[in-house]
Amino acid sequence: MKKKLTAVWMTAYDFTTAQLAEKAGMDMLLVGDSLGMAVYGYPGTVPVTLEQSLYHTEAVRRGAPHTFVIGDMPFGTYHGSVNDAVQNAVQYHKKCGVDCIKLEGGVRVAHIIRAIADSGMLVMGHIGLTPQSTGALGGFKAQGRTAEAAQAIIADAEAVCAAGAFSILVEAVPPEVAKLIAQELPIPIYGIGAGVDCDGQVMIVSDILGIFQAFTPKFVKKYANLGAEMLKVFEAYIADVRSGAFPAEEHTYRMIEGEMQKLAKLRKKTRAAGGKK
Ligand code: KIV
Repeated sequence: MKKKLTAVWMTAYDFTTAQLAEKAGMDMLLVGDSLGMAVYGYPGTVPVTLEQSLYHTEAVRRGAPHTFVIGDMPFGTYHGSVNDAVQNAVQYHKKCGVDCIKLEGGVRVAHIIRAIADSGMLVMGHIGLTPQSTGALGGFKAQGRTAEAAQAIIADAEAVCAAGAFSILVEAVPPEVAKLIAQELPIPIYGIGAGVDCDGQVMIVSDILGIFQAFTPKFVKKYANLGAEMLKVFEAYIADVRSGAFPAEEHTYRMIEGEMQKLAKLRKKTRAAGGKK
């Protein structure tokens, strides 16, 4: 029987957040392609490029050198030839030093998972609501709510596992379905919006901090409202500068004692040499 895990992880896209997450004891960090929405302001994850993803993954690795870091392969980086997919997965290891890569899809990407896993890299699957396919899925909607749909998700999980994935992320599916998958498969099943019976939970950092403004999925718990706090800080800063309250004496560098008099003499000398008054 599989040992029950409770891994706690979240997304991170930058050095500072990664540093703080490692300090807090986060088990894993995903440099999710959600960075398209959270950082770049795109309407979804599809426009994210390999270069953008690698750039942020490198920064997160620098911030969290001792944490398990997951690179998230963007749309289009594993949709061509199997060889291209393997080479793109290799980039995450060579350039960013990730511990594993994640990619979306079930039965349809099993051959890609097998090729990457056979090349010696750890692969995490991602099934259920797969944001790169929200066009085909009809938007950001819960998946697997009917018996047929649930059966298709279970078949995806089995295919991903059989292809050699070391774990699977299940997104926005009923907890009953995630529980069945977690009980039946020998690998860790992580959840986001998939209930409490998974082997761990992941959240998007900008959601738990309360920074992301566009929408809040039902499965999100906001642990702070940093968006409102940031707004207050920006407004206070603007008001301080406009009123002259900032910068104050404690924020300024004064000249060393006696140097101001020396400067006055120097200026006088320079003016005299130039024939100025
Ligand atoms: O890109 C991402 O942030 C994800 C989440 C669903 C965890 O894959």
